[in-house]
Amino acid sequence: MVAKKTKDITNLILNAKKKARKETSFAPEPELTTPIKWPVRCIVGPGLEGAIACETKIGYVNGSKGWLVYRGYDIFDLCAYSTFEEVSYLLIHGNLPNSSQLKSFKKKLFQYSHLPNTKRLLMGFPIEDMNPMGALRLGTNLMRQELTYRDMDNYRPDIKSVISADEDSIPMETKPKGEERAIYEFTHKKYSRPMTIDEQRLHPATGLDTCYHLIAGVASLAASIARIRAGHLPIEPNPDLSHAANFIYMLTGTLPTPVEERIMDVALILHADHGINASTFASMVVASTLSDIYLSIGSGIAALNGPLHGGANEQVLHMLEEIGNVKNVKSWYTKARKSKRKIMGFGHRVYKAYDPRARVLGPLADYLAKDNKKGRALFQIAQALENEVVSTLGAQKGIFPNVDFYSGIVYSCMGIPVEFFTPIFAVSRVSGWTARILEYLENNRIFRPRAMYIGDFDRKYVPEKKRK
Ligand code: CMC
Repeated sequence: MVAKKTKDITNLILNAKKKARKETSFAPEPELTTPIKWPVRCIVGPGLEGAIACETKIGYVNGSKGWLVYRGYDIFDLCAYSTFEEVSYLLIHGNLPNSSQLKSFKKKLFQYSHLPNTKRLLMGFPIEDMNPMGALRLGTNLMRQELTYRDMDNYRPDIKSVISADEDSIPMETKPKGEERAIYEFTHKKYSRPMTIDEQRLHPATGLDTCYHLIAGVASLAASIARIRAGHLPIEPNPDLSHAANFIYMLTGTLPTPVEERIMDVALILHADHGINASTFASMVVASTLSDIYLSIGSGIAALNGPLHGGANEQVLHMLEEIGNVKNVKSWYTKARKSKRKIMGFGHRVYKAYDPRARVLGPLADYLAKDNKKGRALFQIAQALENEVVSTLGAQKGIFPNVDFYSGIVYSCMGIPVEFFTPIFAVSRVSGWTARILEYLENNRIFRPRAMYIGDFDRKYVPEKKRK
């Protein structure tokens, strides 16, 4: 077994870039890279395909060539040379940070990654029975409470203001008073007294600090959820580690090797932003109502969970396991095609060429699977499936592997359970969500498309009793 080195990862990314450059040129599409003069003319298909929603300087996806750019930087270069912290800063602020900006950004992220109250509250829920993405969404709500009520650790509920009930199942702060039935109403709001200046400052749940809090916090939350589900206590972040290393450490309880850290960093960079995809759009729609950023990110998490979106990475692994052996690929695929089954991890609304993220993740999976027996078997099945799909649907329909096809094998080789693949996507995408929300809010207009009404008119109202 050859020792793995971080330099191998960089070489592998640069090779992927070289291959991409050889196979396809990069040229921005004028219809997608020119300032808008509203109202804009575009041809819109079902699912808002082709619709232009806003201008952005954050990122660009060239779907016909298979290129991805964050703030002017090629994704391959960011993967080869940068870190998730730098990339998050870049997405939010528009430029790569200088040394002192990076230092204070990292300090802020570390400070915000603690979440003591959130974790304590989270442990009061049946996390072990919850879908991790559902738990993550709940966690962002609890984080909202934590930042907006931060420094209120000395707060204790006034007994008159809390739940009053006779039921044993009600939390301990309740005081049975002999009511005939449970009363679940709060008679006082927490802030019935005037807020202090500090509290007012922390209250809005909007702005940069909220974004930093969420970028740091979603990682801590995802890791804590994994720990709680496994019957362990959450782990506090380690100040000496990078965001990627800390995430692995908090998730697994083990310090990652430099190669594991580097691979996680690359995976986080690759998933950080991707145009107005469904989860980004969901968060932007919520933010456009001037709802706060925590609730907007909660919507992003909910949208990302779906198997057509971020949830596909988990489905891919289940699919590869269902195929079971490289010998079964052909017959499995023929059957899947016959039954018009969608092949998970393939196809994309925007990419009609090879997804650049899969160009990196495929070789990473191959690299890690070299000395991982289960990973090797999965990778061989995946490669055979890719050959089948690309040779039939590639030229015909522009269907190639997407970001979700190989990421699961990478995570699986790192010992991460399947149900945390999609949360890892969220740990990364939260920086794109927050960056896009902030950018959109600068020129906010509430999102409000229309539907074509194709129902009836002039129906006569029939009273209930006469209805058949
Ligand atoms: N397997 C087989 N056929 C496919 C696939 C696939 N994975 N994806 C698209 N097609 C076919 C589809 O049947 C249709 O054929 P026809 O024109 O003959 O009816 C054509 O390609 C267009 O497909 P579509 O479903 O209309 O495309 P869309 O833009 O609405 O959907 C997609 C995009 C990603 C939801 C879809 O490709 C899909 O369901 N893929 C599988 C799930 C998946 O891997 N999702 C992750 C997406 S990438 C990461 C992310 O953004 O989350």
